[in-house]
Amino acid sequence: MTPDPRPDGDASPADDASPTSDQPQHPRRSIRSFVLRAGRMGSGQVKAMETLGPLYVLPYKPERLDVAQAFGRQAPTVLEIGFGMGHATAQIAAARPQDDFIGIEVHTPGVGALLQRIQERGLTNLRLIQHDAVEVLRDMIAPDSLAGIHVYFPDPWHKKKHNKRRLIQAPFVKELSSRLAPGGYLHCATDWQPYAEQMLEVLGAEPTLQNTASGYAERPDWRPLTKFENRGIKLGHGVWDLVFTKR
Ligand SMILES: C[S@@+](CC[C@H](N)C(=O)[O-])C[C@H]1O[C@@H](n2cnc3c(N)ncnc32)[C@H](O)[C@@H]1O
Repeated sequence: MTPDPRPDGDASPADDASPTSDQPQHPRRSIRSFVLRAGRMGSGQVKAMETLGPLYVLPYKPERLDVAQAFGRQAPTVLEIGFGMGHATAQIAAARPQDDFIGIEVHTPGVGALLQRIQERGLTNLRLIQHDAVEVLRDMIAPDSLAGIHVYFPDPWHKKKHNKRRLIQAPFVKELSSRLAPGGYLHCATDWQPYAEQMLEVLGAEPTLQNTASGYAERPDWRPLTKFENRGIKLGHGVWDLVFTKR
């Protein structure tokens, strides 16, 4: 992972990965959806990174991940993008032991915190990747392979000039859908109405996806409130869930 030394600023052309002859010939990256904040690590998180990291954190590699080998079994696999501190991730993995979960997050304290939860709950069906989810999806996840994708409260990038940094945009949604197995689901949630409207428009326009509701969906019972969501609710925000399936 390459640390981003910039403050929360506008994306610039320098953010794009422009291939040169001695670099991998990947398409230009279209979204820079995160800013790496220098979060303080608690001592428990530091220890978890040291002792549990080697067991549960899969290194980013620009090659397909052998998911069955990573979990030691074959099971439906669900990918989560941007798990934050991992409260909801751990709860969902505990409630669905028949499924395997891969959580992606760039923020180190969040990775440390979720490792602690993995140990506290004795979870065997959760692995983490600390890297840009756009690259993980593109390089490590095979087409037609996932049972589900969770994108809960992605950074809303409120300012108009920053809207281009939102994850849920047409090209990335097409790529997300390409990694779902037929019948697999894409579940997004946000507490920012303009982003909810963008999600509904973009997901609705992706021909390989089908809405499971007429518009926004009910929050499924198994999705617990996330930390970010709780904060939004206290600020009086609404919450919008969207659940689409791959045709
Ligand atoms: C607003 S927070 C929400 C966290 C959590 N899902 C929740 O609801 O509490 C969004 C998270 O997504 C992460 N994130 C944003 N873009 C990402 C990317 N491209 N790859 C991995 N993580 C990303 C951020 O670091 C941040 O922790």
